[in-house]
Amino acid sequence: MSARSRSFGAIAQAYERFRPGYPVDVYDMVTAYAARPIKTALEIGAGTGKATRLFAERGVAVTATEPDAAMLAELRKHVPAHVATVQAAFEELRPGERYDLVYAAAALHWTNPRNRWSRLAAMVEPGGVFASFGGPIEPADPAVADAVCAARSPFVERHDVPSPDGTPPEAEMQWPGTELQRSEWFTDVRQEVIERRLTLTADDYIGHLSTVSAYLVLPDAQREQVFAAIARVLPETVEITTDLTIHLARRCEP
Ligand SMILES: C[S@@+](CC[C@H](N)C(=O)[O-])C[C@H]1O[C@@H](n2cnc3c(N)ncnc32)[C@H](O)[C@@H]1O
Repeated sequence: MSARSRSFGAIAQAYERFRPGYPVDVYDMVTAYAARPIKTALEIGAGTGKATRLFAERGVAVTATEPDAAMLAELRKHVPAHVATVQAAFEELRPGERYDLVYAAAALHWTNPRNRWSRLAAMVEPGGVFASFGGPIEPADPAVADAVCAARSPFVERHDVPSPDGTPPEAEMQWPGTELQRSEWFTDVRQEVIERRLTLTADDYIGHLSTVSAYLVLPDAQREQVFAAIARVLPETVEITTDLTIHLARRCEP
């Protein structure tokens, strides 16, 4: 696992506080796509449980898996008691039970690409659903976005995660839809976007950045410097776009 993928546990409580949760539209989209009841789900990289709640609070028996002990401890404070938890990275999960739904929120890109799709396929019921969703959080005003970019650039070149398979941002189908389309185990691949706009105070926007791995891996002094530089260019409130891109695919029937 890379340093960035292992960086979240140190700020588990800030993660829970500053990262936005997932809207019910995600649940609605997944269940409409499934077109059959989703009773069981396996979540990869569940973090503090923001996407765990989305399904568990609507009656799905979720098994939340997460490699970081501190993230998992935070998760247990926020999810219904019936959620099963397993401390494990995706690569450590052994095939066994199959689920109606296997999903990952803002986490799939951290998993090892080797055998990723055959391993995932082994966890989904034939005809069941795989879903991956997430998206960047950026200032909606291009002038503010440019100012933030200039302020961070001496420390952090880019704070998003580049497409794992190099798909250019303008391509119609984005990763992981691209890989799912090429995969022999999945079919009926769809990509949907849920548009979201939020208004954050400048402090909360910095709070959000304090949970982003590109900053978490900086030495403490540099992290303080970059946040101070960004704070200087922010308006009092920051309009942000936090659109979610959802990829859905169906496990092929044998
Ligand atoms: C950006 S957080 C997303 C957390 C949560 N799913 C959410 O949407 O709020 C990424 C999570 O992936 C976890 N992670 C990193 N590498 C992983 C791996 N190889 N397998 C599973 N999870 C991993 C991290 O510990 C972290 O909790």
